[in-house]
Amino acid sequence: MLTKLFLALNQLSPNIKRELWRQWYQFLAGRYPIQEWTFMNYGYAPLDSQAARLALSPQDEADRYFIQLYHHVASGADLAGLDVVEVGSGRGGGASYVARYLKPKTMLGIDFSEQAVRFSNRQHRVAGLSFSQGDAENLSLDDAHVDVVINVESSHCYASIETFFREVQRVLRPGGYFLYADFRGKEDATLLHHQLHHSGMTLLQEQDVTANVVRSLELDNERKQALIQRYFPKWLLRSFQDFAAVKGSKIYEGFRSRQMLYKYYVLQK
Ligand SMILES: C[S@@+](CC[C@H](N)C(=O)[O-])C[C@H]1O[C@@H](n2cnc3c(N)ncnc32)[C@H](O)[C@@H]1O
Repeated sequence: MLTKLFLALNQLSPNIKRELWRQWYQFLAGRYPIQEWTFMNYGYAPLDSQAARLALSPQDEADRYFIQLYHHVASGADLAGLDVVEVGSGRGGGASYVARYLKPKTMLGIDFSEQAVRFSNRQHRVAGLSFSQGDAENLSLDDAHVDVVINVESSHCYASIETFFREVQRVLRPGGYFLYADFRGKEDATLLHHQLHHSGMTLLQEQDVTANVVRSLELDNERKQALIQRYFPKWLLRSFQDFAAVKGSKIYEGFRSRQMLYKYYVLQK
């Protein structure tokens, strides 16, 4: 039932879609404040088996694939000493990784769900890192206030992507970077390219990382299945397996057949 709802969300009116996503993330953070669950993305794995392995401390190993997605996204700019904002920070694991490993001056995570923000502020205590409730389409930040905006797997929930891109451009300082990753159906991915091209920012890099996401979903499948079995009631299992895109789910198959594409972009103001 929920699965059908996820897949149908894009056909709904933009404002209804947005509100349903908000309720879903509120429900997850309020009902499941599971400490070890701090990421909600599909992850990234290099395809080249000879690629250098990202060095992580033992406490971060379990989140390797989610972190590798953030690492890849953040590789578009050197964040050291900068003011960085993540829009759609979820349960805060990504912002925490950026703050601890990439050493920005400040790192602010913003999310629509106040429950997720409360969870993140409780869970991640790192110097310079904070979380606050806010809306991607109406950011409560001054003009030209930040050096970098990061956005990972969140924008598919928004009512108007053009409004979000205008907000990103407004809050960035001149020369600032927008580091962005998300998935879309095949046709919508073409539209997204067009929207970014006309966003007023310069598109420096566009990469199709669908195969990396599929690889991550495969490598992390067993661990995720075990976590889902451990924490969620029977009646929600199927929905969570689909939400997490485990092997065999519609989302996993969508990526594998390339009916759904996962893209990474670097833009500059
Ligand atoms: C799939 S989760 C990704 C979270 C995080 N980026 C990660 O990779 O772990 C999407 C997040 O976007 C947030 N979100 C959705 N619509 C939003 C909006 N209009 N403004 C801010 N955040 C939003 C949701 O509350 C949710 O936490």
